[in-house]
This record gives sequence, structure tokens and C-alpha cells, in this order.
Amino acid sequence: MSIHGSDGTDVFETARRLEFSASTAAGISLNHAGISPSPARVVRAIQETAAAMGRDPMACFMQTLLPGMTSARTRLARLMGVPPEHLAFTKNTGHGLALIADGLALEPGDNVVVAAYEYPAVVYPWYAQKWRGVETRLVDLRPDGTLRPEDFAAKMDDRSRVVALSWVQFGNGFRADLAEFAEMAHNHGAILVADVIQALGASPCMIEAWNVDVAATGAHKWLMAPPGTGGLYIAPHVLENMHLVNMGAGSVVNAGRFDSTEFTPKPTAQRYEEGSPNALGLIGLEAALSLIEDVGIERIGERVLALAAHAARLVEAKGYRITTPSEDGVPRSGLVTFRHSSLPNEVVLEALTKAGIAAAVRAGNVRFSPHFYNNEADITAAVAALPE
Ligand SMILES: Cc1ncc(COP(=O)(O)O)c(C=O)c1O
Repeated sequence: MSIHGSDGTDVFETARRLEFSASTAAGISLNHAGISPSPARVVRAIQETAAAMGRDPMACFMQTLLPGMTSARTRLARLMGVPPEHLAFTKNTGHGLALIADGLALEPGDNVVVAAYEYPAVVYPWYAQKWRGVETRLVDLRPDGTLRPEDFAAKMDDRSRVVALSWVQFGNGFRADLAEFAEMAHNHGAILVADVIQALGASPCMIEAWNVDVAATGAHKWLMAPPGTGGLYIAPHVLENMHLVNMGAGSVVNAGRFDSTEFTPKPTAQRYEEGSPNALGLIGLEAALSLIEDVGIERIGERVLALAAHAARLVEAKGYRITTPSEDGVPRSGLVTFRHSSLPNEVVLEALTKAGIAAAVRAGNVRFSPHFYNNEADITAAVAALPE
């Protein structure tokens, strides 16, 4: 059945009815920055493929898994704005970032510049390079909750090799201009390593056009795919300066020829796919990406921002302080964070949970993160459940 409903019904409401009836029957999810409910087509694809595996795994592999995974790669690359050959599947964002930190040819005395208060997956892989004499330098958020390229530049010198940054901050929803950060990093002789999980699937993305050198994502948030799936884009000029880490049978050009021990690593990021993939998860990812393509990422982007702006207005009108940085009062991501003047966040979250609203507390804030199939009534209900 088409999402674009021939009867002229709203594409978002059609998607809500066809794909999210299980989750909307269970409550209201405003936690897509945490974990997304699986769309019905994702559940179906995994169930059907698992059943086919039960019957004839080899036939299933050839007829369903291989073409499904190829399609997932094509779709994910299209959504990220990168060539599919330079995109590797990973288990999650942290897996991709750790591959980069462990693999880059860094020297003792080199440094990496990272925002403070980032999600740990953006920071720990760099701390872990201390054994080889690599320093991690932290950049504070400004008092208004933003991160500015010039604050990173101020911490950099001729030994700075990497700027690592989330596209959208998990703790306050600030969206960085990745093109601006890439330019600043390049002007200082460094590369930009971006964690894009908090906006990919919610915002149009153009990694290559923005000159981002590395982009890592997991797929269980805005992409609405199963946990344990993710992607890692590595620009060819970065790959050239990486060691061969995480090598396995799948890393070589003649992967699949198990009688050969000739070791010629694949010439792209796909050399880091070391062995059997999370095939059922990737079948789910394929289905989830097909939904995003059916609805259209431009349309989704506008809708998510409109719902976030609506939520911010209502939450503020209820007397809470919005902590998401905004441009002219309008949030630039799907994450809206806020605080009550006196009530602890946990009390606020408990009231929401009791009312059947899934939200989150992160970095000292309560967080709403609506996706495109949410509607204004969801937001109204969630705000009504906030304690005065
Ligand atoms: C910025 C950011 N990166 C990564 C993740 C998740 O990491 P992983 O995909 O490694 O589980 C989160 C989840 O909260 C996040 O907010």
C-alpha cells in the first residue's frame, strides 16, 4: 500500500496508520533520539527473512539477504550523500568511531579536539589513544549551548589531526554546521570526524558535499532500524592514512575464497567489514530506509523541525525553560530539551512515563524528540502530562 494514499490523505498520517499502529496503540513515543519504534515493514521484513532462514538458509542468503544488504548500502549512502563503495556497515556509531581512532596513523604528540559533554562514543575512542601519546583536547559549549568552530580552532596547533563532533548534540539538541566545521578543520590541517546519528533520517544530509572526511552512524534512532546496525563513511584520502585494523576474512578483495590466503585488502572502507554481517538487522535497515525514501527526507526534515518548534513553544508556555539553542526562537534539530524551575528531571520524566509518553533525561535536561509520524496531538498530550 502506498504511503502517499491515493485518496489524498496526509502522507504523515498514512505512514502513522500503516507503519506505526503498534507503537501509537502502546503510547506516545517522543524518544527517537533514544530508540525508535520499528515501523511495521521492518518487523515484517525481519520476520519473513527469519522464517526463510529457518527453511533454507543458503537460498535465503542468496535470494534475500545479499540483494537486501546491497540495497541497504545503496539507500544509506544516498541518504548520507556519499558513494556506496566508501560506506562500510558497522554494529553501531561507537564501532565506527573506534575503528577510525584505532586505525588512523597518529603519532606521539598529535592531538585530537573534541567537544566536552559529547556522547561518550565520540570521546572515549580518542582517550584510548593515550597509550600512543595522542592527546585529547576538550572544547566547552558556550553558555548559550552552542559550539563554534572558532572555539575549536583556538585549541588547535600544528599537531592537531582530528576534530571530532556530533552533528546534533544528544544533550541539548544543538545542530552544528558540519560544512563550517569541516572547513575550519581543513584550514588547520585536520580532518573532521562526525557522529551523525542524531540527525540522519531526520534531516537532509550531504556528507561529501560538506567535505566531511568521516561520518559514523548507528541506525536505531532516527533511521528507525534495529539496534546493532550502522554505517561508516571514510573518504579515500583518510583511508590512505589508516592502519589495517580489524582485519578478517571479509576485508580482502577475494573475500569468499576461503581456500586462498592471499591478503589484498579491499581498496575502500569496506575492508573494515571483517566477517559475517548482521544480516537480519540489515534487512530491517533496508526496510526502514525504504520508508524514509517513500516519505522523502526533505519532507521529513521540515516536518521534524515543525514538530520540534511546536513542542518548544508549548513547553515554554507551560513555564519550563528551553535549553536547546535556537535560531530566532526556532530549534534546528528534532531534539527539544528543557528544565523545570524547581522539580528534578526524574520527577518530570516519571509523570510523562505514567501518562504513556516515552521521553528521556539527558545531560541535565528532559528531552522530547518527535519523528515525522508524530502529530500535534501527541505534542499536546505530552505537554499536558508535564507537571506544573
Ligand atoms: C551522539 C550520539 N552518538 C552515538 C549514540 C549511540 O551510540 P551507538 O550507536 O554506538 O550505540 C548516541 C545515543 O544516544 C548519541 O546520542
